Amino acid sequence: MAHSHMAEMLDLDAEVLSDYHHDVITWAGSLVPDRPRIIDLGAGTGTGSLALARHLPGAEVIAVDVDEEMLEHLRHRATELGLGERIRTVQADLDQPWPALGPADMVWASASLHHMADPGDALAQALATLRPGGVLLATELDSFPMFLTGTADTGLEQRAHAALAALRDEAGLHMHEDWGDRLAKAGFVVEEERRADIDLRPPLPPAAGRYAQVSLARMAPRLEGRLDPADLAALEALAAGVADRDDLTVRATRTVWLGRRPQA
Ligand SMILES: C[S@@+](CC[C@H](N)C(=O)[O-])C[C@H]1O[C@@H](n2cnc3c(N)ncnc32)[C@H](O)[C@@H]1O
Repeated sequence: MAHSHMAEMLDLDAEVLSDYHHDVITWAGSLVPDRPRIIDLGAGTGTGSLALARHLPGAEVIAVDVDEEMLEHLRHRATELGLGERIRTVQADLDQPWPALGPADMVWASASLHHMADPGDALAQALATLRPGGVLLATELDSFPMFLTGTADTGLEQRAHAALAALRDEAGLHMHEDWGDRLAKAGFVVEEERRADIDLRPPLPPAAGRYAQVSLARMAPRLEGRLDPADLAALEALAAGVADRDDLTVRATRTVWLGRRPQA
């Protein structure tokens, strides 16, 4: 259940924040040669792999993830979209020495570097996987999407987010890294950093209600014992009824770093 919620959330994110995703994919396309070889690190359900393969008809994409269920979902979607020939999946734990994946023109890492046990080691392996002059596009989130800003439920949503953030920190996720600095230390030339402050107002994309529901429903079980019982009960009730509300908004921030492997 938790797993399928995660997979659905990733797909809904791409659907609801489609303008943002489109902008980053267009940017990625401007950075690679014809027929690029692209490696998607921590590919999940393949939001990046699929969009890159669609946008770049000559691209070959290698989608890497530790989670075989995610990769199965990705392969299924790739076949449905007629992209199966150009997207290959590799099941691998990127905290370990990587299988031979290169040489690549681009390494794409969307919301995955913060999962790595040692991001410095992962970035060093990413650098070695790139051709000289090849690029890394790394996206990270400052915060998870918020849906109830400006409503009577803002405070509850904020408390739930704060409790989850504490949980992630305790679990050792690298949510507050200076990724530009990390990239530079790993040997990349950091060429650009783009921050997107996403603020969608009604009318929202049709999938936004479902995205809010899945996000909130996924929070409640993880916050047992971490949130005041009254807040927890209110969060569950909120999740149950949120999809049909007409006062939702979508606020999210994303930052993308462009790092290049030096020519020599
Ligand atoms: C938040 S999801 C992001 C998925 C996708 N890149 C996207 O933007 O929609 C993070 C992904 O990283 C994968 N992951 C986490 N740790 C990993 C590791 N050590 N090796 C490989 N993949 C890993 C997870 O299985 C998950 O699919």
